[in-house]
Amino acid sequence: MHRSVMLEEVLVWLQPKAGGLYFDGTIGAGGHSRAILEANGPAGRIIGLDRDAAAADVARQALLPFGERVVIMQAHYRDAEQIVRDATTRGLDGAILDLGVSSMQVDTAARGFSFMAEGPLDMRMDQREPLTAADLVNRLSEKELTRILFEYGEERYARRIARAIMRRRAKGPILTTLEMVDVIRGTVPPAYAHGRLHCATRTFQALRIVVNRELEDLGPSLQKIAGLLRPGGRFVVLAFHSLEDRIVKQTFRGLAHGTDADFFILTKRPVTPSDRECVENPRARSAKLRVLARREEAA
Ligand SMILES: C[S@@+](CC[C@H](N)C(=O)[O-])C[C@H]1O[C@@H](n2cnc3c(N)ncnc32)[C@H](O)[C@@H]1O
Repeated sequence: MHRSVMLEEVLVWLQPKAGGLYFDGTIGAGGHSRAILEANGPAGRIIGLDRDAAAADVARQALLPFGERVVIMQAHYRDAEQIVRDATTRGLDGAILDLGVSSMQVDTAARGFSFMAEGPLDMRMDQREPLTAADLVNRLSEKELTRILFEYGEERYARRIARAIMRRRAKGPILTTLEMVDVIRGTVPPAYAHGRLHCATRTFQALRIVVNRELEDLGPSLQKIAGLLRPGGRFVVLAFHSLEDRIVKQTFRGLAHGTDADFFILTKRPVTPSDRECVENPRARSAKLRVLARREEAA
């Protein structure tokens, strides 16, 4: 079951207004968008994107009752500028990005995101892209693998795991999620192999980030989306790991820097989910919400 993370907080910070135009760059199952459409009715609109065709389809179905008030496209949020400018000359009243994978993606074994279920080692959000996680694992050098596991997974056993991948590759390619888990489990210390955090969590996170170029595209995309806001417009971003959150924090700081900056930051510290939400929805646990606003025009 998919639950939108920090739904109430998103509404509190975004303050959707009746008749407003909003942008959801990661529409997923459409949960945040639905709440915005309920708040900005009867005439408010949403432009929603998802780079995953299956997610865009699910959102289209889920938001069918809102008719022409919502337009959904399979697209990357880095292309927001073109898409939004084609739809309006007026700018956005608000925008949201809810980063990372959705539970739909993780729960569909055939997409290869899960270390709990057998599937092809794929992990592409946009299946039109050429590079899968298996391609990385079977083609990169030991040095490159060590670097990405360390940098994007913050995996302390990066070097060992990279070496084990090379040994395993000598016998034949690693093609499935559980083959990858076996390689990791077979090389890390027993306490880590059977610890509280699944021993494949960090490796899978690193591979997913690289396959989907999640970090490279984020900063420039945040800048472009912020630039689409009208005066008074707000931009809410939910990040799920420290690398992602650092980029959000630094990009927002850059945009709000200086006395004549067009933007200001509404959340000095990131907002985090309630204890209750963390118990009810484990995916929410690592969420950090930050909000940027565009200054009102001087009277
Ligand atoms: C956590 S889910 C969003 C859930 C949604 N907010 C909801 O309430 O149902 C994140 C979604 O963002 C999509 N996504 C990730 N990176 C993207 C990008 N660069 N451009 C467009 N969509 C992206 C993923 O495919 C996934 O469906």
